[in-house]
Amino acid sequence: MYNQTITLNNGVKVPQLGLGTWFIDDDKAADAVKAAVEIGYRHIDTAQAYGNERGVGEGVRNCGIPREELFVVSKVAAEHKSYELAAKSIDETLAKMGLDYLDMMIIHSPQPWVEVNQSENRYVEGNREAWRALEDAYKAGKLKAIGVSNFQIEDIESLMETAEIKPMVNQILLHISNTPSELVEYCQKNDIAVEAYSPIAHGVILNQPEIKAMADKYGVTVTQLCIRYTLQIGAISLPKTANPEHMKSNAQVDFEINAEDMEKLKNFKKIESYGESSGFPVYGGKL
Ligand SMILES: NC(=O)c1ccc[n+]([C@@H]2O[C@H](COP(=O)([O-])OP(=O)(O)OC[C@H]3O[C@@H](n4cnc5c(N)ncnc54)[C@H](OP(=O)(O)O)[C@@H]3O)[C@@H](O)[C@H]2O)c1
Repeated sequence: MYNQTITLNNGVKVPQLGLGTWFIDDDKAADAVKAAVEIGYRHIDTAQAYGNERGVGEGVRNCGIPREELFVVSKVAAEHKSYELAAKSIDETLAKMGLDYLDMMIIHSPQPWVEVNQSENRYVEGNREAWRALEDAYKAGKLKAIGVSNFQIEDIESLMETAEIKPMVNQILLHISNTPSELVEYCQKNDIAVEAYSPIAHGVILNQPEIKAMADKYGVTVTQLCIRYTLQIGAISLPKTANPEHMKSNAQVDFEINAEDMEKLKNFKKIESYGESSGFPVYGGKL
């Protein structure tokens, strides 16, 4: 089991490999969390928008591992762009999950999903309001860390103009063939940890023959190469699976990709489509 940690700018340690839970149904989420924890995962990523916080919380509470050994993350829905809505939703998440605190909550997107890829409005004021709710929950001990997701450099800079607390992470789309280097470098230079979501491109990257050839060279699977790539960028990586066999193999990533191959993967041609999932705003689609 890969067990490196990353230290956030407030000193909190995060297991660098976490379990993503998007598309794991609420009634399957507790079992997925328990299976992951048994394999050695200590970091679980959910969101208000996934509809599975209840199940994830049940898994966290019943997995047999002391709560303080787990790093549990959820996300304030992208639509909550006022202090009141964000603050209320944080309390609702805690109640739904049956937990006294979360290790981290992050703003899911700077724009409500219906406006992503459709509007120029970056919701500067709304994000400042939501951030203030996260800051207050952090100060109250309800959250051990706070951060953002899908924020561009301009979004972070606008937030920082009024923020009291600097975001600890920015969770972004990062995988072989999609490495937003300028944003990654900006975050890392400013001590904001990068989290890679969809590290295996939502499954699509598995079809690329050149990537398969490189994985063969290292004696690993394509998925392992994809996950290792994001870890070597210095990111926290969040591969999703509810399949315990996949969970096991996704955690066997203690090999080293050489510098030349890392460059190739960084500059690998952009995948043309995310298949059936291309319609999701996070992959360029419009709701
Ligand atoms: N902040 C955001 O806006 C945002 C957006 C997207 C995702 N996320 C987070 O990032 C997590 C991961 O992203 P993702 O769910 O989009 O996609 P992903 O982790 O890149 O890919 C998941 C796909 O890969 C398959 N897979 C996983 N391990 C495998 C293995 N060992 N062999 C073969 N196939 C394998 C999964 O199928 P099986 O389930 O069958 O294994 C699933 O179809 C999410 O769950 C979520 O927590 C955040």
